[in-house]
Amino acid sequence: MELSQIEKDFLKEIEKVESLEELQTLKVKYLGRKGALTQILRSLKELSLEERRKIGKEANLLKEKMEKLFLEKEKILKEIEERKKLEREKVDLTCPGKKISLGHLHPLSLVLREIKEIFRRMGFEVVEGPEIETCFYNFDALNVPEDHPARDLWSTLWLEKNYLLRTHTSPVQVRYLEKHQPPFRIIAPGRVFRHERTDAHHEIQFYQVEGLMVGKDVSLANFKAVILHFFKEFFKEKVEIRLRPSYFPFTEPSVEVDIRLSAKRKAQSAKEGEWLEVMGAGMVHPKVFEAARLNPLRWQGFAFGVGVDRLAMIKYKIPDIRLFYQGDLRFIRQF
Ligand code: FA5
Repeated sequence: MELSQIEKDFLKEIEKVESLEELQTLKVKYLGRKGALTQILRSLKELSLEERRKIGKEANLLKEKMEKLFLEKEKILKEIEERKKLEREKVDLTCPGKKISLGHLHPLSLVLREIKEIFRRMGFEVVEGPEIETCFYNFDALNVPEDHPARDLWSTLWLEKNYLLRTHTSPVQVRYLEKHQPPFRIIAPGRVFRHERTDAHHEIQFYQVEGLMVGKDVSLANFKAVILHFFKEFFKEKVEIRLRPSYFPFTEPSVEVDIRLSAKRKAQSAKEGEWLEVMGAGMVHPKVFEAARLNPLRWQGFAFGVGVDRLAMIKYKIPDIRLFYQGDLRFIRQF
């Protein structure tokens, strides 16, 4: 091929090159071992001395020219690529920062805090007990007979060797009575577990707050005054309560407490004027004092166990208890 043709082609092609890879390919095409110009240089030996000198000189000049052009083009392409890279890595200092969203307390935690605060103001001390209990504290010491249905496999989540997940917060009563001399007033908030079929009002784990007030002459009238005040503070309005006779092995007499709220606050699930059951209560049974080695002829008092989830449902008009435990952010974010 003519040197002039090679040069013409080369100039046309290098003009179109847009990347370093393309440039490298072009370099191989013309100056590589099998490149167009290399072939000519190699075939020089077949020519006459005169031609060899003439063409050899021209070919070498072209080679120098090409190398120079390659270097120039390479420099330009490198600059372009560098600029593109900087563009990609550019940090826009005027961009607003990424917001780290702050979490907040779960509605049940909010309600628990509020309950504790109200009782603290009435002079109650807040105590705790274990979630894994023994049969003694959960049942025996609370006068729950061996054949009571609560002990059934279906209501209690049994663990190994006489251990179980506490089915209520009442065992904390016994634990506290064993170690303290009355008079006192305590509440014991915490999680409890039951082997139950779940529905809008029942979960297999939920929260209770146990209350216990013991003295020489603490009565059900005191109980009524305490919880009336509690509900008034908690719902920020006057609440009607109703004590219904009931049965718990660890209280005598026993009552179930229902509340009725004004129409503006009533839970979505409650029809107007409907009574809602929120707690069990009663006067501490003499057998419970005895189990804790206290004299039931000297001391008396009331105890109660309130369902925290149910109170939260009423307060925030939540129709289904299961929403508390599903971790659905659309629900949680409303509080
Ligand atoms: C008890 O657990 C007794 N320990 C209460 C008590 C304490 C009585 C001290 C006397 C003296 P009960 O099983 O009724 O009682 O539960 C008390 C409250 O817990 C109920 O009123 C209800 O508000 C709540 N509760 C009961 N079961 C569930 C459940 N599966 N899901 C959500 N809340 C529940």
